Formats: sequence, C-alpha cells, structure tokens
Amino acid sequence: MEIEPFAVELWMGQFEGQCQYNLAETCVRSLTIGELLELCGTDETELSAFLSMKMDYGSVDGSLQLRTNIANLYSNVEPNRVLVTHGAAGANALIYSALVSPTSHVVSFVPTYQQHYSIPKSFGADVDVLQLRKQDQFLPNIDELRAIVRDDTSVIALTNPNNPTGSLIHQEALKQILEIGEDCGAYVVCDEVYRGTDQVGAGTTPSVVDLGGNGVSTGSMSKAFSLAGLRLGWIVAPPEVLEQVTHHRDYNTISVGMINDYLASLALANADVLLERSRSLTRRNLQILDDWVQTEDLVSYVKPSSGTTALVHYNLEMDSYQFCRQLLEETGVLLMPGSAFEIEGAFRIGYANDTQVLERGLPLLSAFLHQVN
Ligand SMILES: Cc1ncc(COP(=O)(O)O)c(C=O)c1O
Repeated sequence: MEIEPFAVELWMGQFEGQCQYNLAETCVRSLTIGELLELCGTDETELSAFLSMKMDYGSVDGSLQLRTNIANLYSNVEPNRVLVTHGAAGANALIYSALVSPTSHVVSFVPTYQQHYSIPKSFGADVDVLQLRKQDQFLPNIDELRAIVRDDTSVIALTNPNNPTGSLIHQEALKQILEIGEDCGAYVVCDEVYRGTDQVGAGTTPSVVDLGGNGVSTGSMSKAFSLAGLRLGWIVAPPEVLEQVTHHRDYNTISVGMINDYLASLALANADVLLERSRSLTRRNLQILDDWVQTEDLVSYVKPSSGTTALVHYNLEMDSYQFCRQLLEETGVLLMPGSAFEIEGAFRIGYANDTQVLERGLPLLSAFLHQVN
C-alpha cells in the first residue's frame, strides 16, 4: 500500500535537530518529569510506584483510572467509550483503518494534519477537500459542506482547534456539521489534540462527542498537556466504532506502555492545573506574536483563536520551502513552510514553545524578511 510522504513530519525530522530557535514546534512547551510531578503536587517518591509495577501488557484498552480521567475531559462520556492509543497519530490511523475502505467517500477540511486525507486516500477512498480560506477566518462554509457530502460519505474529518491556522469552530457550527453527517450517515471525526488552549474564556472547546451521536474525538497528551514523550492518545467514539477500532488495535498496538499509562493518569488527575499552565503560556506568547505581526509590514495573518500555531502570509516573491530553508541556514530560526500544507507565500509558526525562543526568534525573522525583500 502506497502513501504520500507526510510533509510536516518529513520537514521536522530533517531540520528540527539543526535549529537554534524552534518556531516550528506545535506542543505547548514540553514538561520534564520533574516539572510534571511538581505541577501535580507530588515529588520523586511518586516514581517508586514503578518499582512494584509488573511489566506485563497492562490493561489493553488503557487502565480504568486513565480512561476515567480521559472521560472526565468530556461532558457526557463514560470510560467504556474511551480507547487508549499510541498518541493521537495512532488514534487517527486506527480510526481510518476502522471506518474507511476503497468504496468510502471522505470529506476532509484543509489545511489540516495530513493524516486526515492522506491515510483515507492510501486506502483507495474517494477524498474531497473542504477548503478553509483566509477570507473566512479559516472557518468552514457550511453550505459548501452540504454540497460536497454524498449518500456514501462515511467520514467528515476535521481538526478543531485547527492546525495550522489556530481557527476554532464554535458549538453552533459543530452541531450543524454533525447534523450534516447524521443526514448522510457519516461519522464526524474531529482531531481535538489542541482542545483546552482557547484564547478566551474557560479555554476548552466543546467536543463533537458531547454534541452529537455520530461524533468521534481523537486526543492526546502531546499538545495541550505538554507530554508528547508519553506517546499516549485516545479515541472517544460510539460503541460500534470502538468495536471495529479494537480489532485493528489488537493487530498493530496491543496496549500502550504501563509507565506511560501511569504518568498520563497522574497528569490528567491534575488536568485543570496543566491546562491553566498551557493557557497562560499560549495567551502570553500569542500576545508577543500578535504585537510582532502588527508592526511587521511584510506579513499578515488571521489571529488564532486557539491552539499553538498560526499561518502567517508574507509579502515576498519567494516560495515557502526556499524561504524556510534559507531562514534556517542564515538565522537558526525554524518555521514550517506553507508548502507542507499546499499553501504558498506562507509559513506556520508555533508560538507556544519557550517564550524566550519566540522573543529572540522574531527579530531574526524580521531582519531576514527585510534582507530578502
Ligand atoms: C492535529 C494533530 N493531530 C495529531 C498529531 C499527532 O499527535 P501525537 O503526538 O499525539 O501523536 C499532531 C501533531 O502535530 C497534530 O498537530
């Protein structure tokens, strides 16, 4: 089975190790184990739990404690609707294995995380994209969605909050998307890894699984919870979907590591504290980015409403791959070229990493923009 190369992962794998100022990062600044323990109000004595841990496969669906803590991130979800996976990457791959076949029709909102269209395509599905446009604040046009779906549409796939634009679909529009899915018999698969990082209010976007019976949510410890190193994610889905997913999971995952399960349970028992830290960081750093965009005349963007990234357009005749390669070579600043999302004249910036990295990287980016102008 052939699959298109995963453009953002390819770029990160090639260049992440070479940069001085990583503004391509999408995680809220990752935590050390020591920082995690401190935020959870404990210390290294907590780690003694590992000494008596018998290293078998653990609970293959994820421990009940962990699934309970994940269920608590939603308004109306029981632990038996949760399946623990190898990151959100594993969750998304499993969902498409379970829901998509060569005869499926899939609608994927773009730009998005490439899994959501390249995996269905690799299975031979007929994939249509619903383009999110700058002039619409990168929000979906619901009438266009209505026109694209068909009787054989099996999945409507989106990322909310969105990567790369940071746009956020609110409850009313999510309900309309779910209704459109319901009418044509499609599941709405929503990648919610950035959930919990909204710029205003309490900070947590409603999940599709709390808004409609055909909603499927994927999430993980990587972004809003700053623990990508745990490689731990999840799927919340209706029972008939979970059953199919479980069959695939048995073949390619079995279970996640017990130490990861334990630490994720601990982190999610303190979800409020971790999310508060993330919101404080993303809100402070977005203010810094926004001040820069307002004063830098060669760039423009739609200010993100959530997430950790922004799509910034630049006013130069230079393709985005060349722009980002040369920027890295000359300044040590790493961005993500828009070409990774099939968008030219733009780059994705990840602003939720270290504040100092952002503060030092932006002036270097400005100097470069004016030098190549
Ligand atoms: C939208 C989206 N989904 C999934 C992933 C993968 O996340 P994980 O680290 O949980 O596998 C990413 C990582 O960048 C992402 O941006």
